[in-house]
Amino acid sequence: MSEDLDLSVAITANNLRKVYPGNPPVVALKSASLKIADNEFFTLLGPSGCGKTTLLRLIAGFEDITDGELILYGNNISNLPPEIRPVNTVFQHYSLFPHMSILENVAFGLRRLGTAKLQAEQIAQEMLELVHLGDYGSRMPNQLSGGQQQRVALARALAPQPKVLLLDEPLSALDLKLRQAMRSELKRLQRETGITFVFVTHDQEEALSMSDRIAVMSSGEIQQIGTPDEIYERPANRFVADFIGDANFYDAVVNTTSENNINYEIHGGQILQSPIIEGITVGDKVTLILRPEKIAFVDNKVKNTLLGKVSEIAYLGNTTDYVISLSDDLTMKVRAENHFDGEPIANIGESVNLAIDPKAMRVLSA
Ligand SMILES: Nc1ncnc2c1ncn2[C@@H]1O[C@H](COP(=O)(O)OP(=O)(O)O)[C@@H](O)[C@H]1O
Ligand SMILES: [Mg+2]
Repeated sequence: MSEDLDLSVAITANNLRKVYPGNPPVVALKSASLKIADNEFFTLLGPSGCGKTTLLRLIAGFEDITDGELILYGNNISNLPPEIRPVNTVFQHYSLFPHMSILENVAFGLRRLGTAKLQAEQIAQEMLELVHLGDYGSRMPNQLSGGQQQRVALARALAPQPKVLLLDEPLSALDLKLRQAMRSELKRLQRETGITFVFVTHDQEEALSMSDRIAVMSSGEIQQIGTPDEIYERPANRFVADFIGDANFYDAVVNTTSENNINYEIHGGQILQSPIIEGITVGDKVTLILRPEKIAFVDNKVKNTLLGKVSEIAYLGNTTDYVISLSDDLTMKVRAENHFDGEPIANIGESVNLAIDPKAMRVLSA
């Protein structure tokens, strides 16, 4: 299948499989297929142990492929040693050489590739300017903060101008404020260099805020590939809906259909609605997915509302989460923005009416 000569594709993985030998062997990647576009900020997102690092290490060439193939810009690299792949890696723990200056650290990789000293230092200086550390070249690593050291590690990885930069949770050792600041920094670096970034994280916010596209993974399998809003608004399955953002899930049966809507009965007898969906008919069993911020509190004159009682309130600063009891064992989480005084919309024990736009409903065949 190596006839993949589309140069706008940076990386093609066909049925990639990785089994680590042992007793028992560990199937870290089952059969992953994906295409990453040239110039793309592509993110592998999933919980710890789902195979993200394994997939990166296969692309880098640090691990042998058990089965399947990898194509980089039209060339099958499945059996190419790591040092001749046009790929570089930034790890979670930036490992700068402590006895070298910052400039020497960034120039190191270039020197090893045979670039003359003066030229290597000139490129290294440009790379330091790119990460806004142009004045720090003569310092030693221990004279820099953690965030600055990670930016040096980025400059070092970018210096040989790889076609693809692999980033394995590069922000996870930084504190929250710095991590957030580095998001836009990384995005800018990717844009300015035009290098394809393959970024690994378990942090959904990080993934949503930086990526052109995301592959959501679990247990060695890719669950869905899409843009951040596709992943969030149209999750392919329950895992994706649950892992990214908050969601209410309801098992339901299609009750009736009308010209515009499908009516679903959930456990407890309440009716929820979605727009018409091809292929769904009365009697079908489905799972309904509803994001808490897409539900509105309304007054009791509005038609087609759900009636419930507030059973829990969690104040989150900019928003408040309400758990509404619809019946004895049926609840719905509703998220509302806080305005002005931060007073809750309703208090515990109060009766409320909830309105749900049918368009907000996601429906999965059960
Ligand atoms: N060198 C190895 N030998 C054996 N098992 C490994 C090795 N590296 C990773 N694994 C296992 O493979 C699975 C995927 O690991 P990894 O790719 O590191 O996941 P992630 O980066 O998503 O946390 C895990 O079950 C992990 O324990
Ligand atoms: Mg990992």
